[in-house]
Amino acid sequence: MEKVKVENRSVGVSPAVIAGMLVDGRPNYITLGSYGSLSINPPIVYVSINKSHYSNAGVKANGYFSVNIPSKNLVKETDYVGIVSGKDTDKSKVFKAFYGSVDKAPMVEECPVNILVKLTQTLDLPRNEVFIGDIVEVYVGKEFLVDGKPDVNKINPILLAGGKYCEIGAAVGNPRVDGKALIK
Ligand SMILES: Cc1cc2nc3c(=O)[nH]c(=O)nc-3n(C[C@H](O)[C@H](O)[C@H](O)COP(=O)(O)O)c2cc1C
Repeated sequence: MEKVKVENRSVGVSPAVIAGMLVDGRPNYITLGSYGSLSINPPIVYVSINKSHYSNAGVKANGYFSVNIPSKNLVKETDYVGIVSGKDTDKSKVFKAFYGSVDKAPMVEECPVNILVKLTQTLDLPRNEVFIGDIVEVYVGKEFLVDGKPDVNKINPILLAGGKYCEIGAAVGNPRVDGKALIK
């Protein structure tokens, strides 16, 4: 395969998630592509938020944030909270907020998956703050479960890929199974 060095480094795929936090006691929501898992057991996740944003102060003041996974029917709302700032627009009514056992971060009722995260560390990058935290609770809408487990096709998350919002395709294999065919 002949390789060509390209300028654009954002060629990967990431989920588009909506982080929720209280800023001065009011829910605020922000769209993020920079979200991911750092450890499965114990479950530790991160979000990376630019220091210029309104959301950061709320995460730091409350020590909690939520990560909400929208379905494709929420593309417009997901994009909206990613292009307007809580600095000049009240985004608290864009979604219906609900709270888990800790009322320090709003979760998004309309999203099929809601993850409540307790902040444990903040990584100070030149332009971003990376908020790292422990997953405290995960909620899934009942209709998104199959045999008691969250079903990714029912959830239908929004993926960021190639500069577009995309949806997930068909499964192409089984992790930790398919590779066994190459074990000698
Ligand atoms: C698809 C998408 C992905 C985004 N990903 C990030 C991200 O990972 N980190 C970030 O700081 N901003 C990201 N943004 C920008 C913020 O969501 C946006 O600036 C938002 O208005 C900030 O809200 P706030 O000022 O209320 O905190 C993204 C926006 C969109 C539309």
